[in-house]
Amino acid sequence: MAYNLLKGKKGIIFGALNEMSIAWKVAEKAYEEGAEFILTNTPVALRLGTLDQLAKKCNTQIVPSDATNVEELEAMIMRSMEILGGKIDFILHSIGMSPNVRKGLSYDRLNYEYYLKTLDISALSFHKVLHVCRKLDAINDWGSVVALSYVAAQRTLYGYNDMADAKSLLESVARSFGYIYGRDKKIRVNTISQSPTMTTAGSGVKGIDRLIDFSERMSPLGNATAEDCASYCITLFSDLTRKVTMQNLFHDGGFSSMGMSLRAMTQYDKSFRDCIDQGD
Ligand SMILES: NC(=O)c1ccc[n+]([C@@H]2O[C@H](COP(=O)([O-])OP(=O)(O)OC[C@H]3O[C@@H](n4cnc5c(N)ncnc54)[C@H](O)[C@@H]3O)[C@@H](O)[C@H]2O)c1
Repeated sequence: MAYNLLKGKKGIIFGALNEMSIAWKVAEKAYEEGAEFILTNTPVALRLGTLDQLAKKCNTQIVPSDATNVEELEAMIMRSMEILGGKIDFILHSIGMSPNVRKGLSYDRLNYEYYLKTLDISALSFHKVLHVCRKLDAINDWGSVVALSYVAAQRTLYGYNDMADAKSLLESVARSFGYIYGRDKKIRVNTISQSPTMTTAGSGVKGIDRLIDFSERMSPLGNATAEDCASYCITLFSDLTRKVTMQNLFHDGGFSSMGMSLRAMTQYDKSFRDCIDQGD
């Protein structure tokens, strides 16, 4: 059901690659809620993904940009304002990639060139987007900027690797820039810490299927889906959350507040008994 929450609002959505992408679901919901927006991703992602289908569905245009490249960001944001006929009200940063994860290099064997790339793509890019927007005065007062994070920023989870460091930095950028942008322009900056979700980026995380099962058992409400995440993003872009800023907002069915659940304990007991049966 749509509520017209974003009627008259203009936005930029980074990071939709294919229909599994969280950004894809956000774009669909933003369109349903009456927003107009530009879709952006890297030229490689445009070749590999199916973003043109989403653009057609949402009656919009794609303006390519690499979010690590400040000049490309400037050009994309200026072009977006031209197409949309004015300043932006909301931005979704839904970008993450670790070359170390891709190459299977564990946290104690990181390649430092790759490590810098992880931080640049997954966290510094958020600073760059905010920096360029502020320089171009591209966001309307009371606008809203959201980036997607993960609980590995606070807690150590096996296999998340250098992306954990990137997410910590991402959340810190939201606080630091949120202060400046809030003070000067009443623009809010938040991160949403989403449940593990089966997407192209998600499937790169070692043991993602077991992680999804574990957090499903641990969360009283179960994992949040990509569609659930999209709905939450819409509330943050809407005028209903005008005083929420500099927050990392957990959107994870309760996972981040749990220590042990009955469902997870039951599963643990089962495998524990199997181990004893096998004489381990
Ligand atoms: N899937 C999960 O389990 C999960 C959980 C919590 C948070 N997140 C976060 O959600 C966000 C979206 O990921 P997703 O799961 O939808 O996967 P996805 O693979 O669909 O999206 C990642 C996007 O990042 C884009 N990207 C990579 N390098 C870029 C660059 N240099 N410039 C611009 N874009 C670039 C990719 O093209 C892709 O569209 C990421 O920040 C991810 O870390 C995902």
